[in-house]
Amino acid sequence: MAEFALPKNSTIRKTGKVHKADGAAKPRTFKIYRYDPDSGENPRYDTFELDLAETGPMVLDALLKIKNEIDPSLTFRRSCREGICGSCSMNIDGKNGLACTTAIEDCKSTVQITPLPHMDVIKDLVPDFTHFYAQYASIKPWLQTVTPAPAGKERLQSPEDRAQLDGLYECILCACCSTSCPSYWWNSDKFLGPAILLQAYRWLADSRDEMTGERLDELEDPFRLYRCHTIMNCANVCPKGLSPAKAIAEIKKLEVERAV
Ligand code: SF4
Ligand code: SF4
Ligand code: FES
Repeated sequence: MAEFALPKNSTIRKTGKVHKADGAAKPRTFKIYRYDPDSGENPRYDTFELDLAETGPMVLDALLKIKNEIDPSLTFRRSCREGICGSCSMNIDGKNGLACTTAIEDCKSTVQITPLPHMDVIKDLVPDFTHFYAQYASIKPWLQTVTPAPAGKERLQSPEDRAQLDGLYECILCACCSTSCPSYWWNSDKFLGPAILLQAYRWLADSRDEMTGERLDELEDPFRLYRCHTIMNCANVCPKGLSPAKAIAEIKKLEVERAV
């Protein structure tokens, strides 16, 4: 029987820092995962009380207020503040999402914030995306053609062909879906996971791409594609309302159709 031993510093310390917002008109508590590998210490939860009367409405506003006014060492990613860049993905009250589009008023009374699950943590709320991006690169996410484009012209698509990319091109590669997928938790070394498979289908569905057979050859593998068991966590958490599960089903359908 396999035996597992977790690293000594993987358990969460019982004590963390507490910041109180004395005299707050609208107090709200944020319990935030902290981890600094350079310190050699175990992770901990720090608790910050904020006055919502003086804080913007989104979870990212709370994180920025904490970083700017209370603890500048709090580490997280963000850029666009409007759900476009995918940087601020994290787990909020047990569900993956974007901090910039999650309203504080929709959270629990104590808002618990942790990094995306089952990823190595670089610091605090920043997970290591190295493997995720390597998997993305592996599906060759660019237009591949063999026939030359018409001289001096772009490769055109009909409106109907362009519409086939709806529900796919909007993906912001935030990894909320992949890191909520139990199959990806246990097999991420080989299973591509929902985000990367949705991207793979984005190129299979593109009428201009001429590498459909090669792309399907690459995906036809018991682990890369077929570890998806239609659990649907991916579609439940996607902050852009996409359905990676549907895209995966479409790839499986293409694999079957070409075999008959
Ligand atoms: S539907 Fe497939 S990819 Fe999506 S969460 Fe379930 S197993 Fe993972
Ligand atoms: S499919 Fe949705 S949840 Fe998954 S990476 Fe793309 S935008 Fe994020
Ligand atoms: S900061 Fe860009 S998606 Fe949240």
